[in-house]
Amino acid sequence: MSGVAASPWILGTFLLSSSSSSLAMEFSTSPATSGGGAVCRSHFRQPKDLKFVLHDALDSSGFNTTYARKAREGFFSQIRKLSDIERETSIIINGEVDLGKTALHIAAEDDSLISHSSVPLPVDAFMQRLDGLSRGYCSRYHSSFRSSPDNFLECLERYMYVDKGFRRTNSSNQLEQRAVYLHSVLTHRVGSMSMLSLIYSEILKMLRLWGLLNFDVEISSHNDSYGSPRGYIKQKTTESDQQQIVTTESLLLKVAPILRDLKNAFWPFQLDQSRSPFLRAAEAAYCSDRSADVDKSGLQLASAKAARHRLERGVWTSVRFGDIRRALSACERLIILEADSMELRDYGVLLYHCGFYKESLQYLKLYQDTEKSTTMKQLQDSLRKLEDDAVEKLIIRLNLILMEDDNIRPSSIASSLYNNTDPW
Ligand SMILES: *[C@@H]1O[C@H](CO)[C@@H](O)[C@H](O)[C@H]1NC(C)=O
Ligand SMILES: *[C@@H]1O[C@H](CO)[C@@H](O)[C@H](O)[C@H]1NC(C)=O
Ligand SMILES: *[C@@H]1O[C@H](CO)[C@@H](O)[C@H](O)[C@H]1NC(C)=O
Ligand SMILES: *[C@@H]1O[C@H](CO)[C@@H](O)[C@H](O)[C@H]1NC(C)=O
Repeated sequence: MSGVAASPWILGTFLLSSSSSSLAMEFSTSPATSGGGAVCRSHFRQPKDLKFVLHDALDSSGFNTTYARKAREGFFSQIRKLSDIERETSIIINGEVDLGKTALHIAAEDDSLISHSSVPLPVDAFMQRLDGLSRGYCSRYHSSFRSSPDNFLECLERYMYVDKGFRRTNSSNQLEQRAVYLHSVLTHRVGSMSMLSLIYSEILKMLRLWGLLNFDVEISSHNDSYGSPRGYIKQKTTESDQQQIVTTESLLLKVAPILRDLKNAFWPFQLDQSRSPFLRAAEAAYCSDRSADVDKSGLQLASAKAARHRLERGVWTSVRFGDIRRALSACERLIILEADSMELRDYGVLLYHCGFYKESLQYLKLYQDTEKSTTMKQLQDSLRKLEDDAVEKLIIRLNLILMEDDNIRPSSIASSLYNNTDPW
C-alpha cells in the first residue's frame, strides 16, 4: 500500500501544525482559494451535473436502498454543515459537525449495503455509547482535571488503552473490516489509526464542551505500525501558526482517512499492495504500462484477471478480494467531501469495471480537466505520471467502447451489481 500508507492523511498529526502547512493549501476546499491563484493541486468542486451510480444501480437490480439513501443523507447533512460554519472555528470546539455521527452514518450505509437486515444500524444507540465513554472518563478520573495537563493525558491514555482496552489493529496488509467502522470499533475495541484518533478526539471534544479542559491538545500517531494515537499538549505557537491551525478543515483531515481506509479495504483489486489501488484497477483493464517491472507482471496480470473475472460473474464481495459496493460508496462519499480530485479518477476506474462506461468516461475526463487547470506539472512524481498515463489510456479505451456501441446498455456486470454468490 505504499502510495497510500505514506499519505500524511493517515500518518502524522491531525491538527495541522506549521510544518504541514502545505497540506492545508493542497487539500483546501475553501471557495476562496479556487480563484486566487493559490496552489491547490487537488481542488475541485463536487460536480453538480454528474450523478453517482451506486444507489440507482442497486435499485434497478431489485435491492431496497431505503436505508442506504437515508444514511447517505445523514452523512451529507453533516458534511453540508461544514460549508456553512465559520471556517475559523476549530472542529474540536465546534459542536456543529459531529464527527462521531458522520462516521456512524458511513457505517450505517455500508451496513445496509451488505446486510439483509430489516432494521437500520442504530446510529443513536452508538452515539450514546460514544458519549458514555466521555462520561465514564469523568467519573473515573475526575481528579485528573485538577492536575497538570501531562497528568491528564496520562490518565486519558490509561483510560482508552488500559481500562477500556482499545487497541490498534495489527493486520497490516488489509484492514480488518471491523476495525474501520466506528460501531464495530466501539464494540470490539480494535480499530484503525483513524478510528482510534476519532474516538480520542471525540472524548476530548466532549470534555471541552463540558468546560473541563482548558488547554489545547493535538493528536499524533506514532509512525510504527502498532502505535496508537496519543495526545500531546500543543506547543506555544506563533500568531501565524495559530492562523494555520484554526482555519484547517479538521473534518476533512479526519473523515477523509476514514473513507480512504474503507476504499482500500474494499477495493476489488487487492493483490500487490505496492501499487496504488488505481493502478491495480487500471492494470485489470489492461491500461497500465507493465513493462516497467517485468518479473512481477505475471502474477499481477493473473490477479488482475482473476479480479475482473469475479466481477464479470457477479461476485462482488469476498473476504480477500474486497467489495465493490462498499468501495463505490466510499468513493462517492470522498467525492462529496471534495477531498482530492484523485477520487474522481478512482471512482471512474471502478465504474469502468462495473460496466458504466459513459459515467466512467465523464468522471475520468473531469479528473483530467481538474488536473489540467490546477496541476503544477513539475511537481508530478513518477507514480502520478504513471497513473495519469493509465487514465489517458482508459479514456481512449472508453471512447472506443462508446463509439462501437451507441445505445449503451449497462453491461452484464452492471446489471448484476447486487448478486452476491461467492464461490471462492
Ligand atoms: C424498502 O424498505 C423500507 C424500509 O424497510 C420499506 O418501508 C419499503 O416499503 C421498502 N420498499 C420496497 C419497494 O420494498
Ligand atoms: C496481532 O498480532 C498477534 C501476534 O503478533 C496475533 O496473535 C494477533 O492475533 C494479532 N491481532 C490481530 C487483530 O491481527
Ligand atoms: C519514523 O520513525 C523513525 C524512527 O523512529 C524515523 O527515523 C523516521 O523518519 C520516521 N518516519 C516518519 C515518516 O516520520
Ligand atoms: C447473477 O446475475 C446474473 C446476471 O444478471 C444472472 O444471470 C444470475 O442468475 C445471477 N445469479 C444469482 C445467483 O442470482
